[in-house]
Order: sequence, then structure tokens, then C-alpha cells
Amino acid sequence: MSHDLLRLSCEFEERFGRPPELAARAPGRVNLIGEHTDYNGGLVLPCAIDRDTVVLGARRDDARFRVHSRELRADAVFDAGTLCRTGGWVDYVQGVVFALAERGGRVPGLDLAIASEVPEGAGLSSSAALEVAIATLLAHAAEDDLPPRERARIAHRAESGFVGVACGVMDQLASAMGREGAALRIDCTSLAISVVPLPEAAALLIVDSGVRHRLSDGEYNRRRRECEVALAAAQSAGVAPAGAATLRALTTADLPALARSLDALSLRRVRHVLTENDRVDEVCDALAKGDLPRAGVALRAGMESLRRDFEVAVPETEALCEIGDATPGVFGSRMTGAGFGGCTVHLVARDMAGGAQSAIVAGFARRYGRAPRAWLVRAARGAERLTLPAA
Ligand code: GLA
Repeated sequence: MSHDLLRLSCEFEERFGRPPELAARAPGRVNLIGEHTDYNGGLVLPCAIDRDTVVLGARRDDARFRVHSRELRADAVFDAGTLCRTGGWVDYVQGVVFALAERGGRVPGLDLAIASEVPEGAGLSSSAALEVAIATLLAHAAEDDLPPRERARIAHRAESGFVGVACGVMDQLASAMGREGAALRIDCTSLAISVVPLPEAAALLIVDSGVRHRLSDGEYNRRRRECEVALAAAQSAGVAPAGAATLRALTTADLPALARSLDALSLRRVRHVLTENDRVDEVCDALAKGDLPRAGVALRAGMESLRRDFEVAVPETEALCEIGDATPGVFGSRMTGAGFGGCTVHLVARDMAGGAQSAIVAGFARRYGRAPRAWLVRAARGAERLTLPAA
């Protein structure tokens, strides 16, 4: 984390006329593999990254929230008793207040200042980082010692129940529960989490295509519906059990039967989800054995599946992966997050990471006439309370 807490505290005091009493941080995340599987009850392999959202707060003696966003240079005010969706950034804050109240939590009014180094709209879960940071701070303010998994659940409820994005649980779990130097294999049906250490020799490079998606823009929700339609068709054809809640009831062994009973679009969507679940375990196994080339092959296969079967790639993310995979030191590249733009993730050899980063940035700049932003990230710890520096 590179936030300067002392400086943020001073800014807080200038703005609100008193020092902050509470602080919390939550990281963004990058998903290594397991894309569009979380809402299908499948497997994912994200890691929290060393880019944080930090929230500072001071309790008020009324139910009012005054919120300042440093990056957006914007202010908002709302009342805990009369939450109202605005369609803007403050809905993520209101959403957490909503979710805590829904589970019976008493939420005091607060003055809040938000600072974030998680790039917005790039597919690195800036919204989950904000929700989890707020949930961590509000739990602290209410003296409610919520475990990380519960804070993730509240953050997820904020997004799905208040902001109105029907996302899966991956982002909030990764932000709340991340481990230093490791990815998390999450089974999105049982919510069982196992820690998958990243080999020392590996580094993660993220490149931002600069193409902005908006999850709420409909394509994401459409993919979810397409998966539900495909499941219903598989059930009617007797390939999936009648009581199945998600595509997790199927495996790649069912693909021949599915090919006989589904229409072409449904088959493509299901084929991505089922093969992606297998790729998550393939990458976990390869990482455990330190076999980075094998992990890279699975990442590349994942990208091809997202491009051809799930149809969420755009020319810019395809180009970044193509350039990445032709770059020395890169084991494998894929888009990460929901898609329709956003970032790519590249698994690279640590000792060649700097050169690979420059080569990919230069290769993209030659094609598109602009240099993309790129970051070498470390897998980081999940959200936590912070101790404020003495003034
Ligand atoms: C977004 C959602 C996640 C997940 C990914 C796709 O990041 O918030 O829940 O569905 O897209 O894997």
C-alpha cells in the first residue's frame, strides 16, 4: 500500500474540521483464471493486489453521512434512514449501509473520506475494494467484529441488492480474504477457499486496454441470462438434473450430450463455463508444482474460450494477449474480469518482467497509437482496519 495516511488524515481534518478516528483499507483484485464462472457456481482463482482503496472516518451524533472522494474530487451527503439510489459512486457507500442495516446492524452516521489507487472501470474491482473498505470501516465504527467472509457477503449484497449489478461473489471475497503472495481458489458453490501460493519465479503483469466497460451496461447481465437459459435447456433435455441451481451440476464429460441438445449459442456459453472450471484446477496444479509454462498454456486456452465461446473479448484485449504471448518471458496472457475492455493479466518470469512490460506497452502503442498503462503487481493481503498515525 502506498497511501500516505498522515497526509490523508490532514486532508480529512481540513475538510471536516476534526481528525479522523477510524481507517480501513481494501485491495482491488486480479483474476488469474475462472472467468464468468462465479455466478455459475463454478471455480475461480483471483488474488488481491497491492493497490488499495483507503477510507477514513469519524463518527457523527446523527444518522447523516458526508462522503468525499479524493480521486473524483466529489462530495455526497445522505441519511442512513432514507437511502436513495443515485446511479453514482456514492451508491456503493449507501449500499453497504443498506446491507448492514438489513442484517440488523446499527450504523452510526459518519464523515468519510475515500482515497483509491485501484483504477476505476479497468476490471480490477475498484467497486468491490470500495465496498469492502466501507464494510470494514463501518463494522469497526459499530464495534461489530465481523469476520472477513461476512464483510465480503455484506459488500456483495451492497452491489447486488442496492447498486443493482447482479455480479458473482468473487471480487468481494478476493478483496476481503486475499493472502500475501498467493491466489485463492474459491469454489463458488460451497464457498470453500484454498490458498494457492504463487511460485517465487512468477510475476503478474496487468495491462489496461483503456477500453472502458460498465458492468451495469447489460452485456454482463445478458451473459448471466444466457447461462440460465442454457441450464434450463439442459434440464429439459435430461442432461442436467431437474433440481440443479447452476451449471455446476454439469462437467466437461457432459459436453457430447449437450452438443446434441443445445442450440449453438447456449452450447458455446456452457462450453466456456465447463472447460473454464477444469482450467482453474489445471492452473492450481501447475502452480503447486512450479510449472509456469503449463499454467501459461491454460491461461491462453482460457483467453481463447472467452473470445470464441463466451464472446466478451474486444480487439484491444485480444491484441494485448497476442502481443504478450509473443513476448519473451511471458508464459501466458488473458483478459481478466468481466471483459468488454478492461485489463489483461500476463503470467511472466520475475527476472524478465520489466522487459516484458516495456515490450507489451510498446507493441500495443505501435498498433493503437497510444501507450497503455501497465503495472507489475504483487498478490496482497485482504482488507483490514488501519491504525491512524498520531497527528
Ligand atoms: C465481474 C464480476 C465478477 C465475475 C467477473 C467475471 O468482475 O463482478 O463477479 O463474474 O466479472 O468473471
